Amino acid sequence: MGIYSAGADTARPVKPRCEVPLRDSELPIRLAGLLERLSGPSPVIGVVGLGYVGLPLCVELAGTGAQVYGLDISESLCAALNAGRSHVGDVSDSALAGAVAAGFRASTDAVCVERCDAVIICVPTPLRKTKDPDISYIIAAGQSVAAHARAGQLIVLESTTYPGTTQEILVPMLKERGLTPGEDIAVAFSPERVDPGNPRYGIRNTPKVVGGVTPACTLAAEALYRRCCDTVFPVSSPAAAETVKLLENTFRMVNIGLVNEFALVCRRLGLDVWEIIDAASTKPFGFMTFKPGPGLGGHCIPVDPHYLAWKLRAHGFTTRFVELADAVNSAMPEHVVSVVGDALNHAERSVKGSRILALGVAYKPDISDVRESPAIEVLSLLHGRGARLSYSDPYVPSLKLDSGIMHSVVLDAQALREADAVVVLTDHRSYDWELVLKEARVIVDARNATARARAVAPELASKVWAI
Ligand SMILES: NC(=O)c1ccc[n+]([C@@H]2O[C@H](COP(=O)([O-])OP(=O)(O)OC[C@H]3O[C@@H](n4cnc5c(N)ncnc54)[C@H](O)[C@@H]3O)[C@@H](O)[C@H]2O)c1
Repeated sequence: MGIYSAGADTARPVKPRCEVPLRDSELPIRLAGLLERLSGPSPVIGVVGLGYVGLPLCVELAGTGAQVYGLDISESLCAALNAGRSHVGDVSDSALAGAVAAGFRASTDAVCVERCDAVIICVPTPLRKTKDPDISYIIAAGQSVAAHARAGQLIVLESTTYPGTTQEILVPMLKERGLTPGEDIAVAFSPERVDPGNPRYGIRNTPKVVGGVTPACTLAAEALYRRCCDTVFPVSSPAAAETVKLLENTFRMVNIGLVNEFALVCRRLGLDVWEIIDAASTKPFGFMTFKPGPGLGGHCIPVDPHYLAWKLRAHGFTTRFVELADAVNSAMPEHVVSVVGDALNHAERSVKGSRILALGVAYKPDISDVRESPAIEVLSLLHGRGARLSYSDPYVPSLKLDSGIMHSVVLDAQALREADAVVVLTDHRSYDWELVLKEARVIVDARNATARARAVAPELASKVWAI
């Protein structure tokens, strides 16, 4: 069967982006009134999982007049949120306090699901040690939602996952409760696209893709997200929406892998990869800039493509780009450590016993998230080689490694002078790169963060080793 003949739901043409009015008359009888409630002044919306994705969504929805219930398994987190204390960098305490004043409540009790017109699930989707998907959080959250679900609601999964999860995992839980998606209850997938720390794109101006189990389910998801997103883009099924997210993140992973390989290529050719990238980036078409670094980090890019690879293995297909990019990216921390070794060797020192100061341990600039951060791997490798380590990161006061807990040190002239080598792993904007270049003895710069400082003081440039 061709993909366009798989059934009525997948065969329907995708609607244009334009904002056509959503009419309740298009819904089956048991969903009647849902669009009106979701588009109305104060629908009741539940968000399950109050982390980097769920909490900003709660605040945005509360700002549209919705009564928002946040559901999490952490009692202490719920208490802090209800007291107006945010743990997510993109949500200020004052924005959270505004949401609380507007009626937002966090709770560990899933009974609030019964009151909701819509429930959005945003729980973690990590990998197991084997790099296979761990969907246990989706299963647990799905079960608690299904236990309290009722006819006339919309349930949306936002957690990044492999194609088929909504249909294969969530839908059967609801059917077990006697709720048929598309008839009694609307069910959809909508990928989260939040980019923590991005000052330009937030929930409102990042288009939202939605794919319902039936056309009626898609309509309901459109009505929900039109509250808080300027553009909602419907696709033909939950599996299509799940795959959109995996394409986006695989695209990024593969291109970072390519540019990391170019860093290794340029090193062998005696060329400066940053000069090559800067020059290539002047092409106004057909090129997109990606930057090399110490490896992939964060909860998404190093993780999500493995969900795709795992699913495709079950179809007897190998996602070769994912595997190749993973191999290149995973080797970058070891490469950084080998450059540190070369730099110290040049100074007639060994890694063992040397004092090495790492600048930045968050996985990207100006945020505190250290999940999957390549800095952790770099520090662990250096520790294994006997280095005496310290780090400075204004966003991460302490860091847990297998070897113990480290605490961030103040970045000043003394800390820089005391280190035998400084390794730049995250280019936070608050760092004083001219001070770093002036005071450090040897710098391994995995982010090209010192470029401007080197232009100002070219006589100091020989201290810096690129990766
Ligand atoms: N962080 C990002 O930048 C980002 C971006 C796009 C997509 N995503 C995806 O969004 C999803 C959520 O990611 P996140 O970064 O918000 O995770 P997170 O770890 O920050 O937050 C998840 C929250 O879910 C809670 N939780 C776990 N199990 C639960 C359950 N059974 N019931 C209720 N709450 C439960 C946890 O206590 C935690 O507070 C993941 O699939 C992730 O891949 C994340």
